[in-house]
Amino acid sequence: MGYDPANPLKDRITDIGPPHYEQFFPPVIKKNYGKWLYHEIVKPGVLKHVAESGDECYTARVACARLISGELMRDYCKIADDHCDGFLRFTTRNNVEFMVDNAAKVQPLLDALAKHGQMPVGGTGAGVTNIVHTQGWVHCHTPATDASGVVKAVMDELFPYFTSMTLPAQVRVALACCLNMCGAVHCSDIAILGVHRKPPMIDHERIGGVCEIPLAIAACPLGAIKPKTEELESGEKVKSVTVNNDKCMFCGNCYTMCPAMPLADPEGDGIAILVGGKISNRRSTPKFSKLVIPFLPNNPPRWPETVAAVKGILEVYAKDAKKYERVGEWAERIGWERFYEKCNIPFSDKSIDDYRLAYDTWRTTTQFKFTSHIK
Ligand code: HEM
Ligand code: HEM
Ligand code: SF4
Ligand code: SF4
Repeated sequence: MGYDPANPLKDRITDIGPPHYEQFFPPVIKKNYGKWLYHEIVKPGVLKHVAESGDECYTARVACARLISGELMRDYCKIADDHCDGFLRFTTRNNVEFMVDNAAKVQPLLDALAKHGQMPVGGTGAGVTNIVHTQGWVHCHTPATDASGVVKAVMDELFPYFTSMTLPAQVRVALACCLNMCGAVHCSDIAILGVHRKPPMIDHERIGGVCEIPLAIAACPLGAIKPKTEELESGEKVKSVTVNNDKCMFCGNCYTMCPAMPLADPEGDGIAILVGGKISNRRSTPKFSKLVIPFLPNNPPRWPETVAAVKGILEVYAKDAKKYERVGEWAERIGWERFYEKCNIPFSDKSIDDYRLAYDTWRTTTQFKFTSHIK
């Protein structure tokens, strides 16, 4: 079973990736694959898809905290078995979707979800759906903040917007616990981003054993890392690195490559809020989100500062934006200066993106007129 260059995939055994998704399609999805005509939102949390063949698929979207118990998982499976022929789907936003193939099955499904009590239906249309988020303190080695903990605290506050569709447009919230950004913070309406504020510490004793030094050097986008011979306390000379702290932007790329260069720090780490990104092409081109709050402290277990910041922005937007306007479109229409004013967010030198490759961010014009709304 050796490698055959003429037929590279023959007998290939790999542990990367799941089995082909086609095996997990409900029959109605499989039959109409690629042949869906349109969809509509029947009511908050319930979607109707209609295929060219006339077949229909109804989806009930349920909020899920992602880190769940086996018990809740079994409850999901039971409802899927009872109502959906055993099929169940998890979305990238950690919602759970129950699908049925005709209108008569919808109400019994919704009744079963309501009866359970922990399966709220929502997350469609002009509301706030579940927060796409990353691993946080539970699973990853580089986070500057937690993921699931912050998301839970924020979603508890935003929950009324999950079950309703009363906002001007959909608001997509994302969280990434470091700049590696496993979460889609750059293209979300409101983004919560874990940030470090201190340069890496270097463990000279360990570095030779756990790192490929050239890789750590190459990992730095700012060229701040240089090789250096260091003398340990024992007098032994070892090959290590040195960091030019003035150049460092605390991105943590080096730590991703090299575990002997940690930069996590209780005071240095916290949360930045970015606003105004979107992927959709509707009405205006896709946008990157922009930094509006450079730092909020990590304050577990409920992160009150972060919750207040997200809710504050959302509520001003809800009141002020025109129908169909996304958060970024609204801020651009009224002007970013006014966005800061209306949301009562202080503007400081830290809000100015001076990263030398940041030419494409909003702070590229000298025409930006700062206001003095915060004394
Ligand atoms: C007997 C000779 C060599 C041995 C035993 C050796 C061994 C290794 C090992 C153990 C790694 C680490 C892999 C890892 O990250 O887990 C590595 C990575 C690497 N080696 Fe070598 N190496 C040899 C020669 C070379 C030469 C001659 C070059 C280039 C001129 C080279 C370039 C690299 C590069 C670029 C990587 C990093 C690859 C990556 O992770 O992207 N190596 N090598
Ligand atoms: C622009 C090109 C290169 C750069 C920037 C570069 C950079 C580096 C750095 C930073 C180190 C770590 C030094 C240290 O551990 O103190 C290193 C090690 C090394 N480089 Fe390069 N290198 C380059 C080209 C090459 C080439 C062309 C070769 C081989 C033909 C090479 C072979 C090695 C080897 C063998 C080591 C390990 C030395 C040791 O561990 O004793 N490098 N390189
Ligand atoms: S965003 Fe960063 S810290 Fe969070 S899971 Fe991804 S790599 Fe880890
Ligand atoms: S944190 Fe980023 S900028 Fe700083 S040294 Fe590491 S890779 Fe370079």
